[in-house]
Amino acid sequence: MRTWVVIAPPAEAESVRQSLRARGLLRHGVRVARSESDVLFPVTAAPEPPIERTRVEERELPAEPATPRSYRELVHLTAELEALLPRAFDVLGDVVLIRLPPELGPHASEIGAALLTFVPGARRVGWDRGVHGEARLRQLTPLAGTGPWRTRHHENGLEFVVDPEAAYFSPRLAREHARIASEVLPGETVWDLCCGVGPFALTIARRAVAHRIVAVDSNPAAIALLQENARRLGVMDRVEPWNESIERFVPSAGTADRVVLNLPHEGIKYLPSVSAAAARGGTIHYYEVTRREDRSMRGGMLVSQLADPFAWACVESHRVHPYSPQSDLVAYTFHRE
Ligand SMILES: C[S@@+](CC[C@H](N)C(=O)[O-])C[C@H]1O[C@@H](n2cnc3c(N)ncnc32)[C@H](O)[C@@H]1O
Repeated sequence: MRTWVVIAPPAEAESVRQSLRARGLLRHGVRVARSESDVLFPVTAAPEPPIERTRVEERELPAEPATPRSYRELVHLTAELEALLPRAFDVLGDVVLIRLPPELGPHASEIGAALLTFVPGARRVGWDRGVHGEARLRQLTPLAGTGPWRTRHHENGLEFVVDPEAAYFSPRLAREHARIASEVLPGETVWDLCCGVGPFALTIARRAVAHRIVAVDSNPAAIALLQENARRLGVMDRVEPWNESIERFVPSAGTADRVVLNLPHEGIKYLPSVSAAAARGGTIHYYEVTRREDRSMRGGMLVSQLADPFAWACVESHRVHPYSPQSDLVAYTFHRE
């Protein structure tokens, strides 16, 4: 494709790219080209004033593939850095979150711009630097786009207001939210401990078979979002929100037929008290990050942590998603006779 190009020496390429992007001059749909002595950026017009140590010419450059199959095709890096580009990213409503290795830090804005272009309907892209603290809040660095992190996310036919900076939410748990809701039996009392913005509790509430659903979280922002979601989904009267810690809630809460405990790194410390509060015939859905090599034995080991372990069995476990090169998030189901 014939286009104007800004020609820069390789050592200046990154600063020239940033300057062109900041001025909105980079031309989409045409590939950046390289020779040994130059990097050629396709532009919609010559920069005015010109960028130092560059020249502008008209050249023939290859067009980008019409519809990229991955955002990776829209990022122009050395082969070594390109190999570090993650394949996966999370989409929460119109917000896109991606985890990046530190080596890609200098290229994070370009990666953000590529995701903004690639993901249909994306409004804002952030660098997800992981979840931290008791509330499991994400540290987010804005990369591209505008507006707040708060957004509306759809899963299992329901709309949730989420705010990844204020309260935990993971779009990777959608199937679990639906699975647990489908297993609830008529008349059960269900506790969703560590409920976040309510995807387990509210998906269960929409099925309207439980007798009582209690949703507990120590993060006030999570409970506020859960209440907002319950109102929007028309299930306010079916869910009891508790802004409380598990430690304070469980001792005086009576018994539950079904408990969801999704606190993957620390939930184990609550298994004794939570299992003691489970009714006969009760079920615990427990989530944990488990080393892959430990998986086959782990269910049995966890049962030994439960109050009255001989009354309990681990009846099922499965991988929810990979967590790290050596570990997975695993869902365990414990059943009390
Ligand atoms: C991994 S998130 C789970 C959120 C939700 N279940 C979901 O599927 O989206 C863990 C949640 O537990 C809450 N939390 C952490 N420690 C807690 C505790 N001791 N008592 C109650 N909630 C706690 C955090 O605020 C966070 O919202």
